[in-house]
Amino acid sequence: MGLWLVSVGGCVQGPSEAPPLVTSASGQADTATIEACMVCHSTREMQRGPVLDGLPEWYLADQLKKFKSGRRGNNAANRAGALMGAAMAKVETEAQLAGLARHFAARKPKPFIRVIRGDLPVGRAQYATRCASCHGVKGEGKPEIASPPVNVQEDWFLLDQLRKYANGQRTVHPSDAGGVMMQASAAALSPDDLRNVVAYIAKDLTVTPPLQKVGPPKL
Ligand code: HEC
Ligand code: HEC
Repeated sequence: MGLWLVSVGGCVQGPSEAPPLVTSASGQADTATIEACMVCHSTREMQRGPVLDGLPEWYLADQLKKFKSGRRGNNAANRAGALMGAAMAKVETEAQLAGLARHFAARKPKPFIRVIRGDLPVGRAQYATRCASCHGVKGEGKPEIASPPVNVQEDWFLLDQLRKYANGQRTVHPSDAGGVMMQASAAALSPDDLRNVVAYIAKDLTVTPPLQKVGPPKL
């Protein structure tokens, strides 16, 4: 039960080219809907969203609700976010949303090619003092404060999201205390330090091995 009330500050606006999602009669996440998500959430396309596999169910559901209500993905300056916001139009029921979160959470994190380079010792120090309290010393996240893991996502996506928090493109609702603090954390780091911290996470915390052969770290 429970149809979504979509009218928080109007509909989610986004470019019209987002592919339509198929909704099953039962409201559960069916394979057609999942397939529609995978148009953007697999490694098939060059221009795409992040691989979602292995993110926790609670975080996926939380973010999907934020996209659905327009708390995330309603900033036209963030084209990627707006595409995602538009894609949510056809996720119509809570049961369907929950089914999608369950589906992606049950999948194993995917190994990926590391593309972000940075100063690892600097990144390690920044992570320890500025990130670990909320995201955990292993990057495992802290569900009790709604803080996601950072050790399963692709490195380009981590950096992309940090930049978007810092420049305001990843929208955070003023009542979302954790998100507001996250935005402040990202804004406090220089562009170089954002790279450094992501390079450190990808090197030492990410649970999957790198797809490429990496040389010894530049210390
Ligand atoms: C048109 C392409 C597109 C489609 C279709 C799409 N997404 Fe997305 N999605 C994106 C992009 C791009 C982002 C990154 C948004 C940003 O940068 O703010 C994203 C972000 C997300 C995130 C946030 C991930 C994170 O760690 O912050 C979740 C969860 C998500 N999508 C789930 C889904 C689900 C479930 C579906 C299917 C119902 C779906 N998406 C369909 C493009 C798409
Ligand atoms: C006060 C706690 C706190 C601190 C400190 C913090 N974060 Fe976060 N972080 C969060 C919360 C809460 C979210 C989810 C916010 C939302 O829903 O947008 C988040 C989200 C993120 C995301 C998005 C993940 C995704 O899949 O979409 C990244 C990346 C991230 N944090 C990295 C960092 C890094 C790197 C640092 C240190 C520079 C840091 N965070 C510091 C609490 C924190």
